[in-house]
Amino acid sequence: MCAVKAVPDFSSPTRPHPTKVPVKPAPRRTPLAFIAHLDAARRAARLPYEPWLGDASRRGLPVQLPDWVAAAHGVAPASDGGSSGAEALGLDTSRWQLTGFRGLLAVRDRVEGEPGVYLGEDGLRFLDGVLAARPGGRVIEIGSGSGIVAAALARTRARVDCVDIDPLCVTATEVTARLNGVADRVHARRADLLTLAPAVPYDTVVANLPGVPVPDGLRYSAAGDGGPDGLRLIRHLLAVALPWLRPAAEAGPSPRLLMRFQSLGTAAGPLLLAELRDFAARGRLDIEVCADSRVRVAVRNGLTAHYAGPLNPGRSQAELLKTCDDHAAALGMDYYYSATLAAHPGEGTVRFTDTSAPDRLASRHRPGPLPVGQAGDRVTRGYLGKLGDLPDGFWEAGTPEAVELPLTRMSEFAAALADHADGLAAVGEVFADHLAEHPAGGRAVYTTANLLAGALTDAGVLA
Ligand SMILES: C[S@@+](CC[C@H](N)C(=O)[O-])C[C@H]1O[C@@H](n2cnc3c(N)ncnc32)[C@H](O)[C@@H]1O
Repeated sequence: MCAVKAVPDFSSPTRPHPTKVPVKPAPRRTPLAFIAHLDAARRAARLPYEPWLGDASRRGLPVQLPDWVAAAHGVAPASDGGSSGAEALGLDTSRWQLTGFRGLLAVRDRVEGEPGVYLGEDGLRFLDGVLAARPGGRVIEIGSGSGIVAAALARTRARVDCVDIDPLCVTATEVTARLNGVADRVHARRADLLTLAPAVPYDTVVANLPGVPVPDGLRYSAAGDGGPDGLRLIRHLLAVALPWLRPAAEAGPSPRLLMRFQSLGTAAGPLLLAELRDFAARGRLDIEVCADSRVRVAVRNGLTAHYAGPLNPGRSQAELLKTCDDHAAALGMDYYYSATLAAHPGEGTVRFTDTSAPDRLASRHRPGPLPVGQAGDRVTRGYLGKLGDLPDGFWEAGTPEAVELPLTRMSEFAAALADHADGLAAVGEVFADHLAEHPAGGRAVYTTANLLAGALTDAGVLA
């Protein structure tokens, strides 16, 4: 799903365009130094959860497996010097890439244009959720992908079971386990959740399953395809997981289910909440759900059409986009949420917290006390500050142009917002040329325009 991206850095205080990132080059011969430099580059780019920073080599970071990864973990390079340490791990260094986060290393197999091992911002956020929840006891991860979450879990327990439908992901999970020194404790195998019968009982089920709503007939990667409403696999897991869990009387305080999920929804919350309430009641669990991003479904459709392109040759971008838009309209959902959840033994309650940027395009605006001319600098600073609220995956299709454009059309956009009852119509009018030129990825401008609407409101240009 995610290629190595040319993400901008934001080291200049006033412009969101790429300049030079102030990361000192230094030898990176250990995992610790590698991860520290990667984190510095993430901070400079203001992308705290991005596993695969673009132009990493310019930043002095290896994107492909460097020799030290094997040596640092006890795998000697071939004695004839004919293979590198990475090759000694049995990996084709032209295909496998390395990243690191929270002291862990992880790999993915990646060839441009081919589906492969998926690790995105959602995976790193999920890792933080799992680390915070500190599950104990026996754990199974469904859809282990790169294996970074399994490796984190294996640090504090004797055994972690993992399954993934994609054999490449099983390999990635094994290599990641090896790189983190926990190969003897991570047991990965190829299996399909839909037919899975694991060796129960488990204390905790962990999963970050595909959740992209994909219309029937559209080809899509297994790492993203969540079926027509996006919930096919998640719904299945909720239907089968309770009998996999240790009986309540024997269960400790560990979370029973830890999940990262994406879900269509309305302003009231994700569609999945209804199914979670049912799951909580059936399992006598208290579920805490925290959403960290919510985008207009039109933005999700743009991303879906963007990724579906190479997998559906012969179907134009405009055609794919229309298929996704018609499909979402039939489902009647306005938003697409990303969230993390933890389910603990309890009374059957579900608590939902939404920390995503408010949708300013949904409310009616009128001119505020300050004219744009007087508030321009304040709006610009406010807007740049809000870029930290860009949703996971923004840079999958979004471009620096989609970030800069709202600033360059600030006055026009403020006037259009005051004119239109519907903020989406204001975006459509002011950014019509951009949306026409980039029909799918260009929809990222709905997200940045929403942040600018917030900055205009905060500064008093709009009320
Ligand atoms: C969104 S990725 C998450 C990867 C990783 N756990 C993470 O958090 O970064 C979803 C993973 O689920 C796997 N998957 C998709 N369909 C599956 C199925 N039916 N059964 C098991 N795994 C599946 C994919 O191959 C992919 O690795």
